[in-house]
Amino acid sequence: MLHMTQVCIIGSGPSGLLLAQFLAQAGIDTIILDRKDRAYIEGRIRAGVLEQGTVAALEDAGVADRLAVEGLRHDGFDLAFDGVRHRIDLFGLTGQSVTVYGQTEVTKDLFKAREAQEQKFFFNVEDVIPADLTSHKPVVRFQHNGQEHIISCDYIAGCDGYRGVSRGAIPANVLKTFERVYPFGWLGILVEKPPVSDELIYANHPRGFALASMRSETRSRYYVQCDLQDRLSDWPDDRFWEEFAARLGTDTTAKLQTGPSFEKSIAPLRSFVAEPMRYGNLFLAGDAAHIVPPTGAKGLNLAVADIRVLSRALIERYVNANDHYLDTYSETVLNRVWKVERFSWQLSTLMHQFPENSPFEKRMQRAEFDYIATSEAASKAIAENYVGLPLE
Ligand code: FAD
Ligand code: PHB
Repeated sequence: MLHMTQVCIIGSGPSGLLLAQFLAQAGIDTIILDRKDRAYIEGRIRAGVLEQGTVAALEDAGVADRLAVEGLRHDGFDLAFDGVRHRIDLFGLTGQSVTVYGQTEVTKDLFKAREAQEQKFFFNVEDVIPADLTSHKPVVRFQHNGQEHIISCDYIAGCDGYRGVSRGAIPANVLKTFERVYPFGWLGILVEKPPVSDELIYANHPRGFALASMRSETRSRYYVQCDLQDRLSDWPDDRFWEEFAARLGTDTTAKLQTGPSFEKSIAPLRSFVAEPMRYGNLFLAGDAAHIVPPTGAKGLNLAVADIRVLSRALIERYVNANDHYLDTYSETVLNRVWKVERFSWQLSTLMHQFPENSPFEKRMQRAEFDYIATSEAASKAIAENYVGLPLE
């Protein structure tokens, strides 16, 4: 079956949905494909912290009504080392804050907006193949309900995450990739209890990293660093609480309310960048092109930043016949991506226990923490990265 559209979007995560929303506002037709279904995508527990620029993008997209009511504004967060805490005063140091609002909720809001526009989706698709990328009419072939479909379009947006097919459609002699895999993972739980602290706490402790985060005033999201080979069955709730409490320190955990977790997952940590983010009429965005370890809370924010640039570029093309922003998309976006990669890598390196670290490297971590805790300049450098670097 043949379908025609202007932009075919592969992937219905935050990147694909937000792009579709911006393009719909400008009257540009899109079709979105995903290999999962809507309920699965809406239920995927992932990010929780939005930069001010991300909130602004969601407002511009007309999907921020619930965010305005339910989002929690945070003016700072704590770094902790062996139980010693230092507050990074985001608002005092940068005049900006961040908003705690789950990726699940962002995704639900975006799906709802698209539903209202009755635009096209194909869920549960298989064997997706982007092709003819350097021609004026690229195509995306896929299987749906046992039938072969072809979408003919002007542009393909590869928003299909790290394990998608779009990046692999760029010829190997064109694509360059850069990667660092960290020797540990994060075990995360959700629990229906008020957060242990009003603000997030990132803790480095000899037993490993821990993060106290939240989704609302009654729901907490907590993480501990775990071994890469750990399975969920190795982490019954009792073990989780014991480790989490030990790593946060007794002062903090005096207020800790424990309870049964209702979600538990393990995520590996990776830094990854693919260059270029454009090949012919295929444009990569979000996790399809880059991954950051979650320590800086940047993955979702970086995806939204890509979409702000890509949507403007496509709108300029269709509305003003101006190709300039499409031609500079990859370069513009990658320039900021690398800075955000650097921050996420630096914070991950500072805050985790690395099995290979020598006593010297452990002292370097401690010295860096002490420097940040006593230097406004060092705290400000962290704050300005955490609230989000400007988008050029
Ligand atoms: P995705 O959300 O991955 O969406 C890609 C979509 O493409 C998916 O729906 C997938 O089903 C679909 N797809 C894949 N392959 C195909 C195919 N062949 N054909 C069609 N569709 C396909 N970021 C933060 O900022 N803070 C966090 O705390 C945080 N925690 C995370 C925890 C985990 C476990 C993971 C995996 C990520 C986390 N991230 C976090 C990162 C953040 O969730 C991602 O950066 C964000 O989801 C990127 O959005 P995306 O739309 O680019 O990709
Ligand atoms: C989360 O709430 O899931 C979260 C918050 C901050 C991070 C990572 C994850 O850096």
